[in-house]
Amino acid sequence: MREAGAVTVLTGAGISTESGIPDFRGPQGLWTRNPAAQAMFTIENYLADPEVRRRAWEMRLASPVWSAEPNRAHRALVALERAGRLRAIVTQNTDGLHQEAGSGPERVLEVHGTARWAMCTDCDDRTPMREVLPRIEAGETDPPCRDCGGVLKSATVSFGQSLDPEVLSAAIDAGRDCDLFVAIGTSLTVHPVAGLCEVALSAGARLVIVNAEPTPYDDVADALVRDPIGEALPRLVDAAALG
Ligand code: APR
Ligand code: ZN
Repeated sequence: MREAGAVTVLTGAGISTESGIPDFRGPQGLWTRNPAAQAMFTIENYLADPEVRRRAWEMRLASPVWSAEPNRAHRALVALERAGRLRAIVTQNTDGLHQEAGSGPERVLEVHGTARWAMCTDCDDRTPMREVLPRIEAGETDPPCRDCGGVLKSATVSFGQSLDPEVLSAAIDAGRDCDLFVAIGTSLTVHPVAGLCEVALSAGARLVIVNAEPTPYDDVADALVRDPIGEALPRLVDAAALG
């Protein structure tokens, strides 16, 4: 961290668990606790089955994202950016906590989209999620798009949907254009994003993984940090900024 001029960070759900948002595959993860849920939230099932949509809207309304605050780890990345050492944050998270913590929005690449916006699957119209949720509270279970009557969903990338090509290519550039790639709080099991580790390594960067549990990239990492992210990240960033 001390020697790195340009650090690209890849964050996953593990950076937000301390903010009260469960991850997916950790011991208390959403998919760990309810394997069927992952199968439910494919784009095909969502578009085909109003019951899946009703369930999804209930979960959006009850999401811990609305009461979550950024934590020490999010804030440490803001400090790294302000010390001029951060190339980009590629995040798989859709909770918007990096921006809430003060990370420059232009530096945050949301490769799996955002839960803070709703989008129409027919006309692509986008609306802040906070403007749609009152319709659920008012009793709608499957609110259609106000413009075209199409099916609304959150502006996140569901299984079966492709990533935004512009965001993905910016993420690949950030992986190529760094001398240190730090993967934080991600099991590195979902592609194409996990492959950014290889992009960075083949561009000559070093790889550090900060994660409580093993990942498929542990054997090619230069360093593994198993401490809780909320403790490890401020320590790492202090070391970097002192450099
Ligand atoms: N400290 C350290 N590690 C932690 C902490 C913590 N406080 N909390 C969780 N972790 C680790 C878990 O051990 C787990 O290995 O974070 C990792 C989170 O991995 P996943 O739950 O798989 O989350 P992520 O890698 O972001 O998932 C990728 O999968 O379901 C899709 O689109 C969804 O973006 C998500 C993608
Ligand atoms: Zn529409």
